[in-house]
Amino acid sequence: MTKGVAILGSTGSIGTTALRVLARHRSRFHVAALTSNANATLLAEQARATGAPFVGLVSNDANVPDAWCLGPDALVQAAQLPDADIVLNAVVGAAGLDATLAALRAGKRVALANKETLVVAGALATTVAREAGGEIIPVDSEHSAILQCLVGRPRTQVRRIILTASGGPFRDWSRQQLEHATLADALRHPTWQMGRKITVDSATLANKALEVIEAHFLFDLPYEAIDVVVHPQSVVHSMVEFMDGSVLAQVGIPSNNQVRGLTLEERSNAQASLRVLGAGVGTLFLGSELLLELTTIWGSTSGRSIDAVMANYISTFRYG
Ligand SMILES: NC(=O)c1ccc[n+]([C@@H]2O[C@H](COP(=O)([O-])OP(=O)(O)OC[C@H]3O[C@@H](n4cnc5c(N)ncnc54)[C@H](OP(=O)(O)O)[C@@H]3O)[C@@H](O)[C@H]2O)c1
Repeated sequence: MTKGVAILGSTGSIGTTALRVLARHRSRFHVAALTSNANATLLAEQARATGAPFVGLVSNDANVPDAWCLGPDALVQAAQLPDADIVLNAVVGAAGLDATLAALRAGKRVALANKETLVVAGALATTVAREAGGEIIPVDSEHSAILQCLVGRPRTQVRRIILTASGGPFRDWSRQQLEHATLADALRHPTWQMGRKITVDSATLANKALEVIEAHFLFDLPYEAIDVVVHPQSVVHSMVEFMDGSVLAQVGIPSNNQVRGLTLEERSNAQASLRVLGAGVGTLFLGSELLLELTTIWGSTSGRSIDAVMANYISTFRYG
């Protein structure tokens, strides 16, 4: 029996990536619902390709099939469908909040890309999840990385978590150059292909601040225990430092697909899930070696930066 996945925001960057991942795993997942805001053309194509039984369009459009659900309530309806075992919330902005809460109240597993849910109502969302038996699994690569590093480790052993930041397109720009930065410059992210809002938020680093808030609620850690480090290669997706001084890092060649695949799996079986999906081979292969070197660095005063180690690994690593 396949698991049903409702994809809210299916026409966006995360939504289309998720559909590509699901298409490779039809024996395990089926698409239970698709929603978008206004892009009826792509939504119709996706509905045809996946055979999704529920299709929702938030903005009203006269030329859509009668069976489609129209209006803002479409998100909440999709999130509560009995056939949806997993709800991927890939809507951008606070418009995603009600659907997250509805899914959690219905006891669903929510694969949460919509970080705004936690930024605007983190305490409420985590309380609803706890009380109703729902589950929040992060889609953000940094938080997904932290989750994998925490598997099987009690929270009392965690000293701090370290979110990595690529630094965005303006990392090397002088103050003078920044005065002339354009929207096009901000949209040219060096590492990730993402929607426009998060790309601009990444350029200004506002996105990292949102991610710190997200991490605070997801992992129930005080803000003092959440650090950010700039790491332009984006090979280390994030790290956890434990009370005994050891550090676990989740590493891999930057790829949006990897995280989406993991998110749909059982959190208690994170590493095995990556292997099954075949998307995290690089992570597992590279990780075992890299971890040794990282641990050595933290334990020494050699002064080598993480970036130097990463550069070494990137130059020797062949993907696939
Ligand atoms: N992209 C990434 O790699 C990435 C990584 C980590 C986290 N995230 C987070 O994931 C979320 C989605 O990001 P994205 O980059 O995929 O955004 P995106 O490409 O802009 O896609 C947004 C999706 O949400 C829909 N949408 C927009 N406004 C809506 C509204 N008012 N009501 C209902 N649906 C609406 C859009 O529909 P239309 O196409 O019809 O407009 C589209 O399907 C954001 O919270 C972002 O911070 C993204």
